[in-house]
Amino acid sequence: MTSCNQTPKADVVLKDYGANPTVLNIDAYTMSNTNFRTALWTGTLLQTTLMSIPVGGDVGLEKHPTTDQFLRVEDGTAQVVMGDTENSLTFSQTAGKDFAIFIPAGKWHNIINTGKKPLKLYSIYSPVQHPHSTIHKTQDEAEEAEELENKHFFNNTENFMTQELIQLPYAINALAPTISRQTIEFHHGKHLQGYVNNLKNLIQGTEFANASLETMIRESDGAIFNNAGQILNHNMYFTQFSPRGGGNPSGALARAINAAWGSFENFQKEFETAGTGLFGSGWVWLAAGRDGKLSIIRESNAGNPLTKGLKPILTFDVWEHAYYLDFQNLRANHLNSLWKIVDWNVVESRY
Ligand SMILES: [Fe+2]
Repeated sequence: MTSCNQTPKADVVLKDYGANPTVLNIDAYTMSNTNFRTALWTGTLLQTTLMSIPVGGDVGLEKHPTTDQFLRVEDGTAQVVMGDTENSLTFSQTAGKDFAIFIPAGKWHNIINTGKKPLKLYSIYSPVQHPHSTIHKTQDEAEEAEELENKHFFNNTENFMTQELIQLPYAINALAPTISRQTIEFHHGKHLQGYVNNLKNLIQGTEFANASLETMIRESDGAIFNNAGQILNHNMYFTQFSPRGGGNPSGALARAINAAWGSFENFQKEFETAGTGLFGSGWVWLAAGRDGKLSIIRESNAGNPLTKGLKPILTFDVWEHAYYLDFQNLRANHLNSLWKIVDWNVVESRY
């Protein structure tokens, strides 16, 4: 008779067992895995993956904006580093066989194999981080797949040109009186044009010369981040309006809004309150997580929910230049008026 905690190695079949009831010897499965990453169990809210990191390799520096992570080392030796930014990994500790590693959501982290044999780990995520049945044979394959997943998820931001002023999909006076011709002339023709000109100069000869706005927002900081962010934010802002806009959203977006706020009216109220209460300059966003769940996000200055791993859906600009000519200091009145011109067809297509 085999004792209950010793599964013979021959019985190990590496595949995704989720979301079925499953009992297995996770040590044997982790030791048998030779892929960089193999999804072992993918449920609705939780996922377990097996990892094997070659000698001298690492998991890769990354952060999961909204996902806490647990890892256990089954074999090998690792250096675990964490920090608030990519360049300031102030936490550093060694982990060996039978060690547990807890990584809080939002922390940059890496796990480096510093030993003389493959580092065998398993990892538990909540919520799910990778598609069901994921197998990444190598770290390169994992990075490629992640890029593809991102491209698919963030499909609403990739079509904007980096170095050109976006064309307005309506006449310059078409959004009056909510947004006057004069405001459009300054906001689109001067402010946004200024960000486009700045970015062109800033990225010349840098690693971002041919990058998308989304990449710059994810990977840069300082002036490039600020100007790229302002361009993407304004592109999303100006293209979500129509003189025939207004009314209510429909379809999947309407259902998700109702699920999160009870009604469209409640959502509108909370969105306006978030925008009115934002101190200084910034943006209020409707954003979606990978599970489709919606949230209202406030961002200062050039901020975009992309940096939190969320998909931007709808945005109101609360910089004074967006409303001062038409509403002076009455930001709340401006935000309330914007609902009349929101083109829900465009916003729904971003969800
Ligand atoms: Fe603006």
